[in-house]
Amino acid sequence: MMRYLGLAAAPLALLAAFAPSAAIARDEAAASVEIEAGQPGPRIDRHIFGQFAEHLGTGIYGGIWVGPDSKIPNVRGIRSDVVAALRAIKVPDVRWPGGCFADEYHWRNGVGPHRRSTVNANWGGSIEPDTFGTDEFMDFIHQIGSDAYVSVNVGSGTLEEASDWMAYMTADQRSSAGADRGANGHAEPYTVKYVGLGNESWGCGGNMRPQYYIDLMKRYARFTRNYNPAQQGDTNPAAMQRIAVGPTDDDASYTEALMEAWSKRDWSWSIEGLSLHSYTVPHWPPSLPSVGFGEDDYASILQATLTMDQKIAKHSAIMDKYDPEKKVALVVDEWGVWLAENPGSPKGFLQQQNSMRDAIVAALNFNIFARHADRVRMANIAQMINVLQSLILTDGPKMLLTPTYYIHQMYLPFQDATFVPVKFAAGEYRHGQIALPKIDAVAVKAADGRLYLSLVNLDPAAGSSVRVTLPQGRFGKASGQVLTAPNVNSVNTFEQPNTVVPRPIAGKVAGGVMTIDLPAKSVAMVALER
Ligand code: AHR
Repeated sequence: MMRYLGLAAAPLALLAAFAPSAAIARDEAAASVEIEAGQPGPRIDRHIFGQFAEHLGTGIYGGIWVGPDSKIPNVRGIRSDVVAALRAIKVPDVRWPGGCFADEYHWRNGVGPHRRSTVNANWGGSIEPDTFGTDEFMDFIHQIGSDAYVSVNVGSGTLEEASDWMAYMTADQRSSAGADRGANGHAEPYTVKYVGLGNESWGCGGNMRPQYYIDLMKRYARFTRNYNPAQQGDTNPAAMQRIAVGPTDDDASYTEALMEAWSKRDWSWSIEGLSLHSYTVPHWPPSLPSVGFGEDDYASILQATLTMDQKIAKHSAIMDKYDPEKKVALVVDEWGVWLAENPGSPKGFLQQQNSMRDAIVAALNFNIFARHADRVRMANIAQMINVLQSLILTDGPKMLLTPTYYIHQMYLPFQDATFVPVKFAAGEYRHGQIALPKIDAVAVKAADGRLYLSLVNLDPAAGSSVRVTLPQGRFGKASGQVLTAPNVNSVNTFEQPNTVVPRPIAGKVAGGVMTIDLPAKSVAMVALER
């Protein structure tokens, strides 16, 4: 028995709650989806596909930076294989240099000919050589064609230091700060599209009460000025956006206090974004393995990741109270699966493998962000390379693309697309006490004018024949890509890098209906064409 829900943009959790569990058996094959193209929703900002690269483990050194003298092919020290892979998925922005690292980062150690090494106290006590600093980061951003999201040090730095950093990056070279940058090889001001005013100030960033942080943050919001002539003017689309530290998970204390303060702001300060950090981590400290896991772990991870929807809904409701016009974006700038470190890897490097399950996690999160596109206008997966839920893994000269990378590639049509509501019966996937929706679906009208449908089958064992009622118009063709794997714990390795890669999939279109066979444990992205 299938059941339509008349909820145009219904959150997945709600659909799951409505799913008639007794009526839908584990092996039921059919599912129904109805695309309602007549009521388009908000634009899905491409920045929800943003990345995060912290000085942590081999996320920067080895992952991005190999140095100009390396035998690994590179341009000015930045490895070319990684740049090519990232260019291919149109990374919209990269958040740098942290994370917790950002609140102990002193930018002057990392510019000019004389770098000063430090101890990376947050992440394994490794030596931070500071050879990858501001100019190298900007070079990297330029090479991959992305926007810079720079987090300034509010925790252990000074306001003067942060303000000087902004001047170094953005001021005219007739000023001393600009001349310093010019002397280091970059005459023109850099574009700093986003600035983060601290990181996790409720935790590793200084354990501050909301009001203490707010008082501090207002000064940073005012004085971390961007001097780049191309970014001046409040209504300039290129103007720098300030992102304040916001909530963790479903703790609303920062959200409430920050938004109340923002609603009472005067001309002297503002913010354009509030950050949310929320990892998929059913147990703390993270202890679930990233390889060789069974269905218990699979189901509990998916259950945990789906709570992202309720967290966003909770913070959005508070933000709506103070900001009904949705001027302040909710920026989910740390999300992803946080698992046990790989056995034998250096402690504190947060190295984990990446499986088919993690690809499903990524797709479900993108679908949640898309449903909340009116408020969630930016998100940054943690992290880009070699750390946590990575898109890329490297080992010396070797590089592989993870299942999570391929989800980013498949979701390219979502970048700056328009949300198109769908109605669907989620069905149920049940494992022990855990009951989850079996199917998830999101449709968009892409920037190229085509209609795309993302379909996720969470069931690890049973496929699903999906019947999609198409909007009016002559659709004659449905084709795209599907990511699936032998097992939910299948991974790509340096020896076998193509175990989890997208393959072609096609639906049959007739009489305004598309039918498509969705494999078990899969994510499909289908283009519907006339
Ligand atoms: O991504 C790893 C760490 O997780 C970040 O440094 C910190 O902000 C968060 O707690």
